[in-house]
Amino acid sequence: THGKPWSGRFHEPTDTFVEEFTASIGFDHRLYRQDIHGSIAHARMLAKVGVLSSEECEAIIQGLETIAQDISRGQFSWSVALEDVHMNIEAALTERIGPVGKKLHTGRSRNDQIATDIRLYLRDAIDLITAQLQRLQEGLLAIAEREAATIMPGFTHLQTAQPVTFGHHLMAWFEMLIRDTERLINCRQRVNILPLGAAALAGTTFPIDQAYTAELLGFDGIAENSLDAVSDRDFAIEFTAAGALLMTHLSRFAEELVLWSSAQFDFITLPDRFCTGSSIMPQKKNPDVPELVRGKTGRVNGHLVGLLTLMKGQPLAYNKDNQEDKEPLFDTVDTLLGCLRAFAAMIPAITTNPDKMREAATKGYATATDLADYLVRKGVSFRDAHEIVGKAVALAIEQNKDLAALKLATLQSFSPVIEEDVFDVLTLEGSVAARNHLGGTAPAQVRAAIQRGRKKLSPL
Ligand code: ARG
Repeated sequence: THGKPWSGRFHEPTDTFVEEFTASIGFDHRLYRQDIHGSIAHARMLAKVGVLSSEECEAIIQGLETIAQDISRGQFSWSVALEDVHMNIEAALTERIGPVGKKLHTGRSRNDQIATDIRLYLRDAIDLITAQLQRLQEGLLAIAEREAATIMPGFTHLQTAQPVTFGHHLMAWFEMLIRDTERLINCRQRVNILPLGAAALAGTTFPIDQAYTAELLGFDGIAENSLDAVSDRDFAIEFTAAGALLMTHLSRFAEELVLWSSAQFDFITLPDRFCTGSSIMPQKKNPDVPELVRGKTGRVNGHLVGLLTLMKGQPLAYNKDNQEDKEPLFDTVDTLLGCLRAFAAMIPAITTNPDKMREAATKGYATATDLADYLVRKGVSFRDAHEIVGKAVALAIEQNKDLAALKLATLQSFSPVIEEDVFDVLTLEGSVAARNHLGGTAPAQVRAAIQRGRKKLSPL
């Protein structure tokens, strides 16, 4: 043999480049906890069904536990010759406890072993991500509450459209993040299924008890088909798709933070501790954190396409291609956790410049629709009202004035139905308060949405 657990049928040692090329230990060592957790459950199950004696099982578990300890302390050396995390740990086990270590792999293959490891890993990763999401959402609720009545321009085409409340705008992000959370929780149900027992591909001849292994590992179900269990990575693709959507939301949010904190908008101020300076321009304060979040969206989108492409040509069952699932998956998890952590800390620390927001809302004829709606309430058809208000806006632009600054007589020259009460609808406060229905921008509705938001968060 050449020192590898599978070398029996080989006549020459592996080419050293091929050894490097095929090894996954450089990245899959991250799965050591899951690998050992899975092995301990597998050993207990083998003892329960009588394949291992209880002494053998205890020796294996103790050996695995000391290995886990050494790895966590950085006192374990990984060998490329042993290819991956599974064979590194198994070899160390036998080295430590003797030949009984060689019995651990009974009724198991690295194929169902790795599928188990990544499912355990991803399950925990999803829990960490949803916890960070929840933190971010709590922060959003807090500033939405503070800014429930703060007026800002709402935009379409990035042109001033109608006044909205800043709280309402923030709650739009909250809604998106709720759906992201739901998608991840839903995906977790399909992640949390036990593949062990599938062995290489066809199952095993030993009288295994998968329900027991599943119970020990906290899986909610058992894979119903051994070929499927070892070959598909749809759960990882689904997770990455949910992650790409989440990043897309964070990226759009980031874009707004970058815009709003610019001198041209000046709606918000980002805390200094989340910004960096320029090595040449002494005055600069750059919104690096939102920019990086926006930028990192690219790699997660890339990982989604990478995983889909990895899967698409594979015949059943396991193929070595699947070893390529880990780096994109790990990087997706790391990226999501990093971006969420940054946002969760930064969002509640944002300060607003309500005067600037109001000034911007005042400048853009944001209450023109309110004037049209007013005319409709006085009996004018909406299309005629639209035309009338358009003319009034043209005049106001010519005179460089807000609609509310036009004289009553001037307004009446556009339509005789206009009366003194028109000025109530031309105010920004009147405009937002009037949109007082579920989903509308009125401060009262923002507060109701925050209440509902708190309820949506609490069961998570
Ligand atoms: N390192 C492999 C992976 O990541 C583990 C499974 C290897 N199985 C095999 N038959 N070569 O997928």
